[in-house]
Amino acid sequence: MPDHPWWQTGVIYQIYPRSFQDSTGNGIGDLAGVIQRLDHLSGTLGVDALWLSPFYPSPMKDFGYDVADYCDVDPLFGDLATFDLLVEEAHRRALRVIIDWVPNHTSDQHPWFRASRTSRTSPKRDWYIWRDPAPDGSPPNNWLAVFGGSAWEWDEATGQYYLHSFLPEQPDLNWRNPQVESAMFETVRFWLDRGVDGIRIDVAHHVMKDPELRDNPPAPHIGERAFKPLGEYDLQRHIHDKGHPDVHEVFRRLRSLLDRYEGDRFAVGEIHIFDLEELAAYYGDLDELHMPYNFSLLWQPWEAHRFRRLVDRFEAVLPPGAWPNYVLGNHDEPRLASRFGEPQARTAAVLLLTLRGTPTIYYGDELGLTNAVIPPDRQQDPWALRVEGIESRDGCRTPMPWDTSPTAGFSPPGSADPWLPISPVHRARSVAAQLDDPGSLLVLYRRLLAYRRDSEALRLGDYRAVDSTPGTFCYLRSHHDERVLVALNFTGVDRSPAVDLTGRGTVVLSTDPGRQGVTPLGGVVLGPHEGLVVEL
Ligand code: NOJ
Repeated sequence: MPDHPWWQTGVIYQIYPRSFQDSTGNGIGDLAGVIQRLDHLSGTLGVDALWLSPFYPSPMKDFGYDVADYCDVDPLFGDLATFDLLVEEAHRRALRVIIDWVPNHTSDQHPWFRASRTSRTSPKRDWYIWRDPAPDGSPPNNWLAVFGGSAWEWDEATGQYYLHSFLPEQPDLNWRNPQVESAMFETVRFWLDRGVDGIRIDVAHHVMKDPELRDNPPAPHIGERAFKPLGEYDLQRHIHDKGHPDVHEVFRRLRSLLDRYEGDRFAVGEIHIFDLEELAAYYGDLDELHMPYNFSLLWQPWEAHRFRRLVDRFEAVLPPGAWPNYVLGNHDEPRLASRFGEPQARTAAVLLLTLRGTPTIYYGDELGLTNAVIPPDRQQDPWALRVEGIESRDGCRTPMPWDTSPTAGFSPPGSADPWLPISPVHRARSVAAQLDDPGSLLVLYRRLLAYRRDSEALRLGDYRAVDSTPGTFCYLRSHHDERVLVALNFTGVDRSPAVDLTGRGTVVLSTDPGRQGVTPLGGVVLGPHEGLVVEL
């Protein structure tokens, strides 16, 4: 499939480095650990690209999303030589490597910010967003931090506030200063020169704010919500503190930087925008991001008509030639199997790997891990520790269970306690426990990935929804004369989708391992939560 770049035809697998494989026995995953598992990822599971959450030097106030040096590896995770080896070993197995790039904010320990806060006249002062207080001493405007409270932190020494859209230890960079852009672009080149295939851009839409820093207006009462509740943050319409249209210029320039490299270097943006047309603007004229991540399905109630509506809508608003994607899990959301339900996690696997576009699998979702329960004294997530009512992200970040041993194969035997506890429920769902079980979710993922690899209809084909009975979502994927029907039962009872298709098809796979052979298309009856893939 030479006309399609790897990031369109491949499947991405997200690794949270702290939690994937600990090679040293300190209870924290590391890059050497990832190298140990590359054979599993490329050979056994069968994914095509890895996205590594941040591994840079960091005080770890937000577990690496507070970067103190964009061009190095935190000693916890290894060093640059280990990173280079990881890229080399991944490439040897035809696995691409995507790194997390965090442009909106640095750590407050980054040398740029340390210099910036020394005085109002520091050459780095304007690299961050500093403002005088309002006349009564309060913050310069009403902006709120995602992680609670005002987005402004008072700096006694220099008598000004600085902006932080997340933690106070994560000051926002001032992207309106051209020196910031060139320094940050330099950090992208640093990794591209080392052979990295792509970047995932953290909160990409945040980098440009209203130049006048106007107050956000209050939010109208939210009826049906598109995303999880964010507490006080939900009380405003965030029209001025992020997503300023100038952001598109930044991404056009970033895209031309990427395009100057050989080998289809790729950029995907983490963009929490739920108006799909607005989201699609981040493709530009195919001259901005290769894809903005589409989170619209993440928090949908598990109802067929909602999923169909959102997929149809995204397909409809995509600019010509733009490549879609759908995200069902990541390191910020409760585990898919807890959000949608455990039987639903099987149906979701079929959905994720058969929709048009690039799937991203969050590590452990292929095992059906549920959100782990973390005892109060082991809680780590700074967001949940700061803001009441926010569900901790720890539950989806626990160590990968590789086997049923006491350390679950995450750490060598006899290691220190892992940074987050391993749930006994997870140990029972380990890779080793599932690999030889034909009915396991892991085997279903393997089969889906293997079929997808061979199926041009799934990798490249068109998408067309097929009308079906309530509670079911059916679509055709076709490429030249290859046609595949996907039929998903979103309910817990038998359902006939009653699609208006005649003839018979061959079952490729189903969430029900017992289903095989030839099936009538119109008259097929789906079992509870069944996801079925049929070749026409
Ligand atoms: C989004 C990341 O996915 C999340 O983990 C992080 O806390 C925030 N951005 C801040 O960088």
